[in-house]
Amino acid sequence: EEMSKEQVINYLNETVKPKEGVIPAYLLGDQTVYDLEHEKVFLKTWVFVGHESEVPHKGDFMTRELSGYSIIITRDSNDEIHAFYNMCTHRGMKLCRADKGNKSLFTCPYHGFSFKNNGDLVGVPLQKDTYGGKIDRSKMGLHQVRLESYKGLLFGTWNDHAEPLEDFLGDFRWYLDIVVGRAEMEVVGAPQRFVVHSNWKVGSDNFVGDSYHTMVTHGSIAKLGMVPNATYSKRGFQIHTENGHGLNLGTPNPDFAFPEELKDEYKRNLSPEQYEVLSNLKNMIGNVFPNLSFLISHTKIKDHLISNTSIRMWRPIGLNKMEVIAWMFVEKNAPKEWKERSRDSFILTFSPSGIFEQDDTEVFTDITEAAQGAMPFQKKLTYNYTMGMHREPVEFIGPGVTYDDKFTEANQRNFYKYWMELMTK
Ligand code: FES
Ligand code: FE
Repeated sequence: EEMSKEQVINYLNETVKPKEGVIPAYLLGDQTVYDLEHEKVFLKTWVFVGHESEVPHKGDFMTRELSGYSIIITRDSNDEIHAFYNMCTHRGMKLCRADKGNKSLFTCPYHGFSFKNNGDLVGVPLQKDTYGGKIDRSKMGLHQVRLESYKGLLFGTWNDHAEPLEDFLGDFRWYLDIVVGRAEMEVVGAPQRFVVHSNWKVGSDNFVGDSYHTMVTHGSIAKLGMVPNATYSKRGFQIHTENGHGLNLGTPNPDFAFPEELKDEYKRNLSPEQYEVLSNLKNMIGNVFPNLSFLISHTKIKDHLISNTSIRMWRPIGLNKMEVIAWMFVEKNAPKEWKERSRDSFILTFSPSGIFEQDDTEVFTDITEAAQGAMPFQKKLTYNYTMGMHREPVEFIGPGVTYDDKFTEANQRNFYKYWMELMTK
C-alpha cells in the first residue's frame, strides 16, 4: 500500500546504510522513492545544463531541461548568459520549441507576446486595444532561473537557497580543473542523446567509482591487446570529496596523451600539482553529484596515444529510464588533426556505437530490470557495497579522501551517504 512521505523517509533511514555498505535494491525500482528524489535531490541541488561554448555568440540560445522543466539559455547583446523558465508569462505556453539557434527576440506561438533574450517583455499585440495600454510589461518578464558557471560548465538550480555553485563543488573543483579547465575547451558538435532503460543512479554509481567492472564488463579490450593486462584498471587512486562527488584516477602513464603544443597553456591554467597529475594521467572517470559524469580516456590509434574528454548526464526520465546526454570536448587550440583523432577515439569507445558504452548500458539495463516492482522490496533484497572497507586513506597531492588503488567502493558509499542526507532532510 501507499506510504506517506514521512513513512518513506523513516523506511529509508532503517534500510539504507551506506557506511555499512548496504544499499537496498528497491531504491532503483520504487516509484515513491523516485518521486521523492525529484523533490529532494533534483529540485534542491545544482544540476548541469550545458557549456558556455555551446552559446558562443551574442544572440545564441539553446533549450535544455533542468530537472524535468524546459529552460532557455541565452547569450544577450551584452554577452551575458541567462537562463529562463521556458514558459510564457501570459498564459503559460512553451515559448521556444527549437533546440538551439540565434535570435534576440522570442515570440510566443500562442498570442504573440515578444520577449528579448534578456527576459524583458517588449511586445504585446494590439496592447492599446486589448489592455487599454495598461498592461505592466515590466512585471511580466520571463522567470529567471538561477544559473552559475564553473570553468564554462553551466549549472542551474530551482532552489533559491542553494549554496553558491563553487561551494557545492568544493574541493572537487581541483579535479574538474584538470577535466575542463586545463585549457580553453570547446564542445564538439551537438551533444549525443540516447535513451537507456536504466535508473539514473546506476550510471552515476558506475562512474563515481566502479573500476572493478572494467576487467570483466570490458574484458574484450584486454583480449584484443588494447591494454597491457586484465588488472590494469586497478592501478591509480580513488578519491572522493564532500557532497557525494568522486572520481577514479588512473595513473601512471609513460606517454603524454595530450597535444604537446599545449603544454604551456596547461601550465598556465593548472597548479604545478594539477599539471603533475595531468602529465601522468592514464584516465580519469568521475561523477559530480547527482548525475554529471566525466571521462578522460586514452586510446591507441595508429600507434599514437590519443586522449578524449567528455562529460555526460544521466537524465532521469522515469523510474527505469534515462536519457544519456554526452558532450565531447577538445582543446580549442589543439591542431586540427589531433582534434579529429580525439573525436574518433571518443566515438570508438564512448558513444552509442562505442565499445565501452555498449558494454556498460547492457549491465545498467539488467540491474534496473531486476530491481523493479514490489518483490525486491518485500524480499528485502540488498546490494553489497563493502569493498575496501578495511582500507585506510592515503596522502595525495590533491584534496579529498584518497585510496591508493581503484578497487574499492568508498566512492559509492560516499555518493549514497549524501543522497541519503538530501532524501531524509
Ligand atoms: Fe504566450 Fe499568450 S501564452 S502570448
Ligand atoms: Fe564501464
